[in-house]
This record gives sequence, C-alpha cells and structure tokens, in this order.
Amino acid sequence: MITIPMKTRLFITAAFAATALTLSAQKSATITLHADQGKDIIPKEIYGQFAEHLGTCIYGGLWVGENSAIPNTQGYRTDVLNALKDLAVPVLRWPGGCFADEYHWMDGIGPKSQRPKMVNNNWGGTIEDNSFGTHEFLNLCELLKCEPYISANVGSGSVEEMAKWVEYMTSDGDSPLANLRRKNGRDKAWNVKYLGVGNESWGCGGSMRPEYYADLYRRYATYARNYDGNRLFKIASGASDYDYNWTEVLMDRVGHRMDGLSLHYYTVTGWSGSKGAATKFSTDDYYWTMGKCLEIEDVIKKHCAIMDKYDKDKRIALMLDEWGTWWDEEPGTVRGHLYQQNTLRDAFVASLSLDVFNRHTDRLKMANIAQIVNVLQSMILTNDKGGMVLTPTYHVFRMYKVHQDATYLPIDLQCEKREVRDGRVVPMVSATASKSKEGIVHISLSNIDAENAQEITINLGADLKATTASGEMLTAKNLEDHNTFERPDVVKPVPFKETKINKGVLKVKLPAKSIVTLVVR
Ligand code: AHR
Repeated sequence: MITIPMKTRLFITAAFAATALTLSAQKSATITLHADQGKDIIPKEIYGQFAEHLGTCIYGGLWVGENSAIPNTQGYRTDVLNALKDLAVPVLRWPGGCFADEYHWMDGIGPKSQRPKMVNNNWGGTIEDNSFGTHEFLNLCELLKCEPYISANVGSGSVEEMAKWVEYMTSDGDSPLANLRRKNGRDKAWNVKYLGVGNESWGCGGSMRPEYYADLYRRYATYARNYDGNRLFKIASGASDYDYNWTEVLMDRVGHRMDGLSLHYYTVTGWSGSKGAATKFSTDDYYWTMGKCLEIEDVIKKHCAIMDKYDKDKRIALMLDEWGTWWDEEPGTVRGHLYQQNTLRDAFVASLSLDVFNRHTDRLKMANIAQIVNVLQSMILTNDKGGMVLTPTYHVFRMYKVHQDATYLPIDLQCEKREVRDGRVVPMVSATASKSKEGIVHISLSNIDAENAQEITINLGADLKATTASGEMLTAKNLEDHNTFERPDVVKPVPFKETKINKGVLKVKLPAKSIVTLVVR
C-alpha cells in the first residue's frame, strides 16, 4: 500500500477542491454505508447526562421545591422535566463532579428543615442547604425513566459513609439503613446500577497519585455491597485528557476489580486565563474548536490501547463521564457557577463527539455531557422568572436519540479536509448511521464547512431497498447564533427534504454549517 504523507494529501485534496470550485459552488463528499455489516449496539448510555450541585444546575434548574411560584411537579420544574423526557435521558450522573468529594449524603435526607447547610467550596462558596438529596435525585431518575449514576465521596468521606449510602439506597431487607430510608418515606429500594468511586481523584477529588488511589479504590470498592438483587457497576475515577499514565497504573493495579474506568475530556482552550466567550468567536476559532473536539477520538484510542493490554476481552468499560465545551462564564453571572451560552458551534461539538463515540462502543460504554442544565455545555438554560431555553446542543441530542440502543452501521467517508490553527486536521463532513430495533436506518450528517454547501453522495448498498429519506436540520444564519429567553427559537430544527434516492444512491444537499438526521425508508 502506498502511504501519502498528510501534507501532500492536504495539498491534493485542496487542489481537487479548487478544481471542483471552478465547476460548481458546491463541495462534495462520498459515503459508503455498510448496512449489512452492523453488529454492535450503540449503548444508550453514550447519550448520558451529568447534574452537579454547581451554580443553578440543581437549584433553579432542575429543582425549585414544591412551594415555588414556578410550575413544578413534586418540586421539579415541570417545563424542564418535560423537555428532558423528550430527550430520552438514559443515565444521569450526580452529585458531582468536584462537589461529590465534599458531599455527605446523610446531610441530604430526612425533614428538609432539619438538614444541615454546607459551603460549596468548589463552586463559588455558595451555601448549599441540602434540600435536594438522595430521595430527590433518585425520584427524579424514576420520573425520567433513566439509570442513576451515583458519584461517591472518596476524597473527604469514609469507607463506612459510602458503604452505608449503598445500603440506604439499595437494601430491601430489614437492615438498619433500609429502615432509615423507610422512615424517610421510601419503602422500596431504588435500583442503582452505576457507582463512581471518587471523581478526579488526581485533582479536586484528593490530589492523589494513581498508585495511592488504586489502593484506595480497592478498599472502598470492597465494601460497596450488592444488596437484594441490585448489582453495582463500579467505576474507578479515571484520567483527564492525555494522562495515559493514570490509565496504565489503574489497569495494572486495579484490573478487574473495576467494571469501568472513567475519562474526562473538555473542549477547552486551556485551564488558565480566558477560555474565550461562548458567543463571540471568529471562524478560525470555530475551526480550532472542531479540531480540539475531534481530538477526543485519538485520546479515546490511546486510553483504549492501554486498556487492551491488560483486558483483551474488553470486560472493563471506558466511561467518558465528563465531556463538552468550557467557555468563559457569561458576563454578569456569579463567578464559579460556570453558566455559559450555547451556539451553533456547541451544536457541532455535540454532533461530532457523538459521531466519534458511536464508533468506539466496543470499549466506550457511557458518556455524560457536562452538564444537563445551566452549567457548561448544557441542554437547557433557565432563569428565576420561569423562563426556559432549549440550547442548540439540546436539539442535537434530540435529533440523535434515534441512535440510542440501535445497531451501529459502519461507513466509509471521503471528504475535503482543512488544516486548522495548532496543526490539527478537520474533515469538512462528519457522519454516523444506525439501524433501529424496528429495522429503520437513520443517518446523521454534519457539514462542518462554515461557508460551503456539500452534496453528499451516499451509497446505500444493495440490501437497503430505500425509496425515501427525510428528517430534520439544525442550522442558523451565523455560527454565533444562540437562543435567549427573549428569542428562544433562533436555532431550532426544521424539516429537511433536500434528498434524492436513485438505484441505491442517496444524494443529500447540506447547506453550509448544518446538521441533519435522516430517516431512510
Ligand atoms: O463539570 C465541572 C467540573 O469539571 C467537575 O466538577 C469536575 O469533575 C471537572 O473538573
């Protein structure tokens, strides 16, 4: 096989693109869909969410309390609840994040008036009144019909505290903690599958070295018991970004004592100084963001290669339990509350990331975007006047929910590429495809190109006797466009029909900077 160096390839692509430009104003890309080669299921947990006691994620966002003037269902904001139901949230991680390693669950049970207060040291020093605790969280998961993912305190909590929390939530017998739960109004144990043993234990979760945390994990996990048919899936606190040594040490020293190992990766310009405004950026910044976001694939591959060395059968899952964009906080908002707006650029980070995750589900079994409401790359923004905004990222998650638990269909994609600031190379088209349990094929396409439309030719293959393809498209006039309480529908999906099928070939005309999900029948 002849290997063409990347620089030459870019040159060739650019030369072809220039020729194409003289013939037509439109770019083109080709996809071959292997509808007959689908074998892996895309776990629905790849579309997971994360809710931390941070800013207005919990208080004001999800929870307003029964006595609020804002319409609520048992204390949960009714508008937010309904919007989340429409998203089919598969799993929700709570209570942090960094908050988890300072959280003492016993402060959040029993009569609300008697719950002690605490300082939320990680997030602006806000006073936490513990009115949203274990019952409020697990009941929310039941309302949303999603799996709870509990992050337990290892950094500042004891083994006994964690062990008792597990008993309180999941024991159905005549046990002391199950009886305390009954006294607090909940008879039946909850189903709690996912248990995180600490969070970012290399940083806010205790500033530990991996060797020390590995031993702590083994100790804590020993006492996280399975009660009455509840089977815990224990997740070790994993690496951030490019810290491959953490993964190596954990795989070596913990191995099959863990069911999952987490990973955090944020699309962020850097951890010190300004991260850039969420709504003010250049086209150059936009392409840089696409490059940084797509680099997650390389990071996943490298962590997986280490895991493969120790676990050839892939019994230990990689859990990307924090990901998404991280911009400067919106001017005028509380410092440390990480409230940021969300533009079409964020929508692309969502679609491109989900395309990557769908490709790696042999090892990657969960991903939780940070965070669900009012924090970082959120689905929803709320205000204290009862206003609610669905973000462009929300719309991508809604358009992509068809891929949850569907069979992944491999594709080959040829498209133009562009070298961006920092030397990363960004393809101008991203795509993913799946087949639902009912046999319906869905294809999601992103035209990353900020200026040019794309004609995408999709070879559907002989097996797929499709005659129509239509769906929804998310785009906007400008990449910086976003939804506000005054103008909530600036960026929202519209019906999309720019398709033609002829003899097994689907042609799709995608406008510049657009994201589409198609139903192919
Ligand atoms: O999501 C915000 C914070 O980012 C989390 O609390 C922490 O785990 C990560 O550093």
